Amino acid sequence: MNDSIVLITGGGSGIGKSTALALAAEGATVLIADVNLDSAQSVADQVTEGGGTAAAYACDVSSHENLSQLFTSIDSHWGRLDGAVNNAGITGPIGPLESVDPEAISSLISVNLLSVLYCMQFEIDLMKRASKGAIVNTCSIWGLNGSANYVAYSASKHGVAGATKSAALETATDGIRINAVCPGFVRTPMNMQSGLSLDEDQAALRAREALHPMDRFGEPEEIAAGISFLLSEKASFITGHLLSVDGGFVV
Ligand code: NAI
Repeated sequence: MNDSIVLITGGGSGIGKSTALALAAEGATVLIADVNLDSAQSVADQVTEGGGTAAAYACDVSSHENLSQLFTSIDSHWGRLDGAVNNAGITGPIGPLESVDPEAISSLISVNLLSVLYCMQFEIDLMKRASKGAIVNTCSIWGLNGSANYVAYSASKHGVAGATKSAALETATDGIRINAVCPGFVRTPMNMQSGLSLDEDQAALRAREALHPMDRFGEPEEIAAGISFLLSEKASFITGHLLSVDGGFVV
């Protein structure tokens, strides 16, 4: 990743944060965009304190206007983009589809799916100028399997899977590779807020862990390792791939 400039959305927490730290440790300049600027800045500070290069950006990925400003800033300040991790996401409404607030469905689709489509538009534009680049979208096991009570989330992630494969086909001869990681349940703040308290409900925790043949949650660093691989030259002949990093959940 040496000398690469890589954008990570949702880089202030969980998988995005671990990815930013991992890529920075490999020599990348990391641009951390998050709706929570404080958390993005704190990750950027951690990188710079460790001798790396990082910048933090406030950006709500569900706003096209915010994204337009973000990519204009990146273009004018850095002049290029070698890699991008479209990772920001939320779990959104939980429960049977007919009981879910339509507004919540709409905002979930905006954050989890429309943002990935819009980000890829800006990223492909920038990367085409250099005839090279790599994009990794954060999908999910629920982008491959269905999930009762998470219909909107699962639909958004199936959309990310389709967008990844289709955009990869469009850019295959442009030197741009586009892939996705599909994590199982990962020990991040998102998981702790999705109806499961890791402290209070040990039975629910165990049941969810046991869905993974490896009988444990993933760690954010393990997802970051998959993302880092897909961004790197080691994956130079891989595009349109959905990489499961899920302890055997989807086989
Ligand atoms: P997290 O909640 O720890 O981190 C998500 C980050 O995205 C936060 O920093 C948050 O501020 C940011 N964010 C949320 N909405 C945003 C917006 N509108 N604009 C910009 N930033 C925004 O979550 P986690 O677990 O690290 O999730 C990252 C990605 O991984 C998501 O796309 C999620 O769907 C996916 N994923 C997570 C799994 C898990 O078990 N934690 C499993 C499978 C996929």
